[in-house]
Amino acid sequence: MKRRWATVVGGLLSACLLLAPAAWTQAGGGAQTFDLIHWNGEKFPYGVDYYPEAWDETQWEKDAAQMQEAGINFVRMGEFAWVKLEPQEGHFDFAWLDRALQVLNARGIKAVLGTPTASPPAWLYAKYPDIAAMDANGIRYRYGSRRNYCLHNSDFLAATRRIVTALAEHYKDHPGVIGWQIDNELGDPKCFDPASRAAFQRWCQRNYQTLDALNKAWGTVFWGHTYQAWAEIPLPWNTLSSAHNPSLALDFDRFQSDSTHDYLDLQAAILRAIAPRQAVTHNEMGLYPGVDYYDLNRSLDFVAWDNYPMFGKDYTQYTGSGLGHDLMRGSKNNQNYLVMEQQGGLPGWSEFGGRQAPAALYRVWAYQSVAHGADGVCYFRWRTSRYGTEQYWQGILDQDSYPNSRYQVVKQTGKELGQLTELLHGSKVVSPVALLVSPDSRWAFEIQPLAEGFDYDRELHNFYDAFRRAGVGVDVAFPGSDLSSYRMVVAPCLFVTDQALTSKLTAYVKNGGTLILTFRSGVKDQHDVVTDRTLPGAFADLAGVAIHEFDPQINEEQEVMGPGETLFPTRVWSDILEPTTAKVIVNYGKGYYAGKAAVTENAREKGWVYYVGTESSSPFFYDRLVARAAEKSSVPLNAKLPFGVEVATREKGRMKILFVLNYTSQPQTVPLDQAYHNVMTGATEPMDMQIPAYEVKVLTSQ
Ligand code: GLA
Ligand code: GLA
Repeated sequence: MKRRWATVVGGLLSACLLLAPAAWTQAGGGAQTFDLIHWNGEKFPYGVDYYPEAWDETQWEKDAAQMQEAGINFVRMGEFAWVKLEPQEGHFDFAWLDRALQVLNARGIKAVLGTPTASPPAWLYAKYPDIAAMDANGIRYRYGSRRNYCLHNSDFLAATRRIVTALAEHYKDHPGVIGWQIDNELGDPKCFDPASRAAFQRWCQRNYQTLDALNKAWGTVFWGHTYQAWAEIPLPWNTLSSAHNPSLALDFDRFQSDSTHDYLDLQAAILRAIAPRQAVTHNEMGLYPGVDYYDLNRSLDFVAWDNYPMFGKDYTQYTGSGLGHDLMRGSKNNQNYLVMEQQGGLPGWSEFGGRQAPAALYRVWAYQSVAHGADGVCYFRWRTSRYGTEQYWQGILDQDSYPNSRYQVVKQTGKELGQLTELLHGSKVVSPVALLVSPDSRWAFEIQPLAEGFDYDRELHNFYDAFRRAGVGVDVAFPGSDLSSYRMVVAPCLFVTDQALTSKLTAYVKNGGTLILTFRSGVKDQHDVVTDRTLPGAFADLAGVAIHEFDPQINEEQEVMGPGETLFPTRVWSDILEPTTAKVIVNYGKGYYAGKAAVTENAREKGWVYYVGTESSSPFFYDRLVARAAEKSSVPLNAKLPFGVEVATREKGRMKILFVLNYTSQPQTVPLDQAYHNVMTGATEPMDMQIPAYEVKVLTSQ
């Protein structure tokens, strides 16, 4: 379905690419890639998020000196400073930002400027109260906090154009400004006001052309919800039971994502038209479900994201941020990316959000970013705020500016990354496995959460973590991604599919790929309507199974029995599989369907298809499963990686660059497939390499 609706803006964008910024390079086949690692000159882009407006000007020079001392070569700033930049409607004040830039630039520190639209001024709300979003109960939010605007309010769009245009005009030729971050963490809130409703109705009309087509696609015959005029179409606002048609609700999620994209495009088009030599990016949120990033990122020069590994409680669990990195890389076809907010201290708003980590771990996390494809790292934030909501969200420095242990670690890391720049230049993450993330399925599961305890992200992690525990690199693919280079594709809970995606996966297997599918695959079409084919619907033939019975939430704590009589506990869901051509490899162990198939393996043309009918709470279940499928597809595993040690690889031609990251408080012995050259010490590392606690080693194969 054609979902983009700002085709005019899209056309303008592609025309503007001709006036590309300096760091664009023409790659083979006409595709352009952004040379991010050289974005800011010769040295690895190494930055901090800085709020000069919140500190006395007498502090700026000291800050710049202290940044320079730590190897900082850029700042991001201005993204919440709208009221300082436009204190009255149409009256701009850039003088303070000019002075801040002058102080920073004098120390060799450049700037990425945020367009400040995430936090509109109080005067704007006072004059145009309808700028504020309306919640699903029909109540307008009031001024306060941030990200509190409605994307379809014409006064807000006009105010956006005015401030972005003025900023771009003022800084377009400034040698100290290397690029723009549009807004800040776009996505929320959903707005349920009349302007949004009218926009949604127009979106529906564009996508379905006729009401007859919409009524059929959504199955509005149910409960007699048939629409006879576009103006009758509601938003999924709160009704008596809040039980909306899931097809309408899914389209509203797509509409929200498209509206977010259009808002980003509106700003990107202005910036590209006025300031074509400055790059355009946006700071994103990894697994945040509100936006289809694969779609959004077509409009950016490169992806940037905000990486907070300390949201987890156990700092040896590196796969939370690992999957975030890989998803962000995958959302722009594996192009290297920037971390715009890298954890620089404890998280916390009204209370501190974790226990403090040893300062050395901040270095390990920064290297993790690089290991997964970051060609630039910027810390949030330079110094903890004295004011406002984020007094407990630590920057590198605390309010007293004392060069604490985190500062020392940031300084050391910056020096090292600076030295690694040329080695890293042109290197990429190349993975044998792709994990398919389906934004449509995620939304559909949010609308109808399936069964108690179901969590789509956890289903992703079950497989992702198993591969990473075995040192196997994983790319995140989206329905639009090219899958042909992968030896294995894992598509957990591929609930909503369309013809294009099922054909792509069928062709992938036919050409020799190994595909892992799990429960609730092939259930719904692209309109969130249940198939009338025997499950797993479009995948039944590929998987060689039929499903006539399933058991949500699991009768009497189900378990499964794998080869070798090992029992694994299961949860959430059981598909009871009837193999047609597949071979059974795991059976249910208890109750009335004990002995029936839970996991199958099917040889299909040149490829293999696994169907996993349940979820296990045991990581060993996934280790076993992944090992079996990996063997069939010749993906080498490192089965003896110690717990809490990550190995991630970038490749440059035939050279492998290995990052070995020890998140544990103990020294570890890491088995390697060969001896490697240690880039930092010049030594040769043996195949049973030692690594101290909270340490990083960067190794090359040549
Ligand atoms: C009630 C209603 C039906 C149906 C069922 C199941 O019995 O009368 O229309 O909604 O619940 O939800
Ligand atoms: C996000 C935002 C930042 C800041 C941090 C910490 O990443 O982009 O402005 O609020 O969270 O809360």
